[in-house]
Amino acid sequence: MSENRGHSIGVFDSGIGGLTVVKALMEHLPFENITYFGDTARVPYGVKSVETIQSFSAQITDFLLDRQVKLLVIACNTMAAVASDIVKSRSNVPVLDVIDAGARAAVAASQRQSIGIIGTPTTVNSNAYARSIHALDNRVRVYSQACPLFVPLVEEGWLDHEVTRLTAQEYLKPVFVESVDTLVLGCTHYPLLKPLLQEVVGAKMTLIDSARTVAAQAAELLQSRQMYNEQRCPPSYHYVVTDIPLRFQTLGSRFLGRDMPQVQVVRFAG
Ligand code: DGL
Repeated sequence: MSENRGHSIGVFDSGIGGLTVVKALMEHLPFENITYFGDTARVPYGVKSVETIQSFSAQITDFLLDRQVKLLVIACNTMAAVASDIVKSRSNVPVLDVIDAGARAAVAASQRQSIGIIGTPTTVNSNAYARSIHALDNRVRVYSQACPLFVPLVEEGWLDHEVTRLTAQEYLKPVFVESVDTLVLGCTHYPLLKPLLQEVVGAKMTLIDSARTVAAQAAELLQSRQMYNEQRCPPSYHYVVTDIPLRFQTLGSRFLGRDMPQVQVVRFAG
């Protein structure tokens, strides 16, 4: 693998939200090159069928593998929930995903063994978080809540808005009732709502940001397999989308907290 150390980490998502994972990767691994793929033509995935998401995920995996990435990171919780096996079966490089990373961090954090999961309808209906958590510790109680309105609210930039606060209070009522002590932000967009959600659920609740946990896993994996980039110079970041690069660039700087360079557009046939 040593000759591939300079190759990019391939990160993919249904659209823009996976940039929360890119931001965390940039912080954890400041010398790694990154290629990001956002399927902006077909977003949102969170309300689509399992079959559709699996076929889109396979296409994106093949695209990134053709670009010779050294590691794949499934940044999208919805794709990780229903298509991680498909991605792994096609990949000749290691694959990490936000659900596995988030589940591990949540089990480690929960004192009362009672964990709440919030995500898109497809992620919640898949039960993928509960399965991953129970594979680690089957005594943990898991409560899930779909929060479909959060994605458009974040994209609107309403990160600290009364409408978002009221929406969060409404969605999180069942979580309070079940008295969980750890809440997994199981969607790419939710880390941007972290301050507001922390305020709504109270300071005692541990919030798990799966973007940060998967970035920490990537750092560990590159270190343990000696796959990290040995070049200590500014890395290159490459962004590929399937539609409307300008919106991606504008919103993207909010997700990344920095300006975005050129964005390439590719169109899949069919
Ligand atoms: N990226 C998706 C996720 O993390 C949210 C946006 C979508 O529905 O496509 O679940």
